[in-house]
Formats: sequence, structure tokens, C-alpha cells
Amino acid sequence: MSTVTIEAAQTRVPERTTETTAVEDAPPGSFVITLIIRRYIPELDDEPRWEDFDVRVLPTDRILDALHKIKWEQDGSLTFRRSCAHGICGSDAMRINGRNRLACKTLIKDLDPSKPIYVEALKGLPLEKDLVVDMEPFFEAYRQVQPFLIASSAPPARRERTQSPVARERFDDTTKCILCAACTSSCPVFWTDGQYFGPAAIVNAHRFIFDDRDEASQVRLDILNDKEGVWRCRTTFNCSEACPRGIEITKAIQEVKQALLTGKAS
Ligand code: SF4
Ligand code: FES
Repeated sequence: MSTVTIEAAQTRVPERTTETTAVEDAPPGSFVITLIIRRYIPELDDEPRWEDFDVRVLPTDRILDALHKIKWEQDGSLTFRRSCAHGICGSDAMRINGRNRLACKTLIKDLDPSKPIYVEALKGLPLEKDLVVDMEPFFEAYRQVQPFLIASSAPPARRERTQSPVARERFDDTTKCILCAACTSSCPVFWTDGQYFGPAAIVNAHRFIFDDRDEASQVRLDILNDKEGVWRCRTTFNCSEACPRGIEITKAIQEVKQALLTGKAS
């Protein structure tokens, strides 16, 4: 199990240093970009504030690399989460130029480095510090849909529960979720109504509703038939566009709605 690191530790803001790499030491092809980061240190700030940092990067660097350079070379108080650094753990979702993305999967060359790059915490979840939000409301919705296999029979001795490739294919897309919250925190219904389960919880319910080894599809459908469930979705596609795993979230939500209308999860 991977461990999520919160790059924080210092609460006292150290004296700010500026971009330190001497031009003659700069790697070939590197250039300086400006990151404008929405900072919030609860011990010091009444409100979030924007702060800009110049940092030398290569075009193939990621936003996560730029954040590390700022933290290690300029301001150790800058706080953000990251763990795997390779798009697997889902811990470094943040808003980059107004769009939810993983910092470890966003290359500088895919943005416009001639302009400042804006970086801020996910919206719709309580802000704790700098780029770190409280994920508990997100995980509470996830837990409510019972995201685990429920079967009354004991599994076969010394074997896993098997299923056909066709049956597995039925929910393949929704197995890819890494619980980054990029979808849920880009959803305008979630922003305005903190009770809505949100797309990620529905994706993870879908993963079990359409698994032919599971026996609790109806339980999950009943949960999602709630007034804060799937019917709150307004099909804005923000979630599908934000998902770093390319999951067709809106389609999954539509399939759950269809199962509720027909009474069949197939
Ligand atoms: S569905 Fe996609 S965007 Fe939503 S939590 Fe899972 S991986 Fe992240
Ligand atoms: S650090 Fe794990 S997904 Fe980016």
C-alpha cells in the first residue's frame, strides 16, 4: 500500500529565496516559468492569497517537479500531497490553469509556459493548507456505496472467484478509478450541494453493480436512488473531462440511471 506524503512540515515561513540556478549551470533547453500558487497557511492567513514563484524547468518536467523545486529551493512551507509521482495513487489532483489534473501527469510543454501557470487546490472540498484539501467528505460518499464485493457464498477453496472475460469487460472501465477526486471536485452540483454523492462514488458503485459475482447490486441502486444520488447529475461532462484515467464517467452514471429505471443491472 502506498503512503501519501504531505509535503508540509514547516509552519514558519522561511525567508523567501528566488530562482537560484545560475544561468551558466542551467541544463540545456531549460527555461524559467512563473507559477502563481494560491497559498493558504491557516496559522498566518485569514484568506487564501496568490503568490508567484519563478522556477527553472525543462519542457518535459511536470508541474509536480516544479512544485518540488519551489519547496526544496525556495520556500519549504509550500504544502501539497503526492506519493507515487506516476499517476497511480491519485493524491496530487489540483487545479492547474483552472482545470483539475494530476500534477505528476501534467507536462510543462503541454501548457503555455510563456504565460504564468496558475495552481490551486481542488474546489468543493474544505481547504486545509495551500494545495491540500480535506478529502473526508469525498471518502465518506465513497464508503456509503459499499465499494467492495458482497457475496453470500464462500469463495472456492484456494481459488479466486472466476468470471468470463465478457462479464469482466462489462465494468472494466470503472475499475480504473484511482480516487483522485478530480471528477467530484469539478462537478457544479457537488460545489453547490455538499450532500450529492458525486461522480467518483457513482463510478465505484458502478464497478460492483455490474459485477456478476456481486449480490448487492440492488442495495447500491437503492442507495443511489436517493434524492442526493444519481438523479442530481446534470450531465455537464465536467467529470469525464477531468478524469486522468479517461473513465467515461457520464456514461457510467447513465448506465446506473438506466439500471434504476429498468430494475436490471446487466
Ligand atoms: S473517476 Fe477518474 S477523476 Fe474520478 S476519482 Fe476516479 S480516477 Fe479520479
Ligand atoms: S503522485 Fe500519485 S497520482 Fe500523482
